[in-house]
Amino acid sequence: MSDEPDDVGTAHPPSRPPDPDTADADTADAGAADAGAADADAADAGVDHDAPRPRRASSPHIPPPTTAPAMSPLAFERLDVGEMRRRAQDLVQHLSSRRSVRAFSTEPIPLDVLDACIRAAATAPSGANKQPWTFCVVTDPALKRRIREAAEAEERAFYGGRASTSWLNDLAHLGTDANKPFLEEAPAIVVLFAQNRSPTGGKHYYISESVGIAAGFFIAALHRCGLATLTHTPSPMAFLSEILGRPRHERAYLLLPVGYPARDCEVPVITRKPLDEVLIRYDAS
Ligand SMILES: Cc1cc2nc3c(=O)[nH]c(=O)nc-3n(C[C@H](O)[C@H](O)[C@H](O)COP(=O)(O)O)c2cc1C
Repeated sequence: MSDEPDDVGTAHPPSRPPDPDTADADTADAGAADAGAADADAADAGVDHDAPRPRRASSPHIPPPTTAPAMSPLAFERLDVGEMRRRAQDLVQHLSSRRSVRAFSTEPIPLDVLDACIRAAATAPSGANKQPWTFCVVTDPALKRRIREAAEAEERAFYGGRASTSWLNDLAHLGTDANKPFLEEAPAIVVLFAQNRSPTGGKHYYISESVGIAAGFFIAALHRCGLATLTHTPSPMAFLSEILGRPRHERAYLLLPVGYPARDCEVPVITRKPLDEVLIRYDAS
């Protein structure tokens, strides 16, 4: 149980002005790809992405587009305020009832529903619309067993010394340990991979942000469709690339067992931060 990304902080300082849809992400490896993403944090803070910006002498020459982009009218449903409030309340209530599940029933799930949740996730926004994600769905018991065994090996190292004492203290309230039977018990395991470039070598941008948003869509979709999951990160997750035979330009991002909760499933008692701790307003006085 890592519960923390193992590759954050690998970013190097930006060497050129970042731009979410045109920044030249370094895609030599996954960490470097995320460096482009890290640059984005600075870029997204108050930068008008549509504004023309002066070219630096060191910028690569980008020829102007010769044809107008294809556009279509936006399909947008304008709601009355009462309906907006109802939906907002329903959404808060619905999402508040989502919990991470670590004890699954072995009962099969409708795989077409899982596919639909992946389709929903794949509608997520992404840097330059590159959609830098791959969802692998594993239902083969032999593969699930291999994934469980490899994950537990990493987790034994983690709980047995790799994790700092403070980290283990922070995890104590969850009651987790190196045993991950749910990786075999859940009828499906979804491994979400981040692509640091396209299969043909094309560049991807803001990879971590994009895949993180898709993961959020996916988790919300599963919950909406009556399926439970766990956001699992048995770090490092390189074993998943090997077991699933994924290409070098993909790196495992999250491991998500999917199924119904076990009948006797319990979850740790947790609290959410109150709104005034997570929301800061800047209204005109
Ligand atoms: C990026 C990320 C990684 C996580 N990794 C693990 C993990 O490896 N093992 C685990 O049991 N839970 C993991 N979790 C689940 C968190 O512990 C859980 O989301 C948190 O305790 C809040 O509980 P809830 O999901 O039930 O609201 C992870 C969550 C996130 C967002």
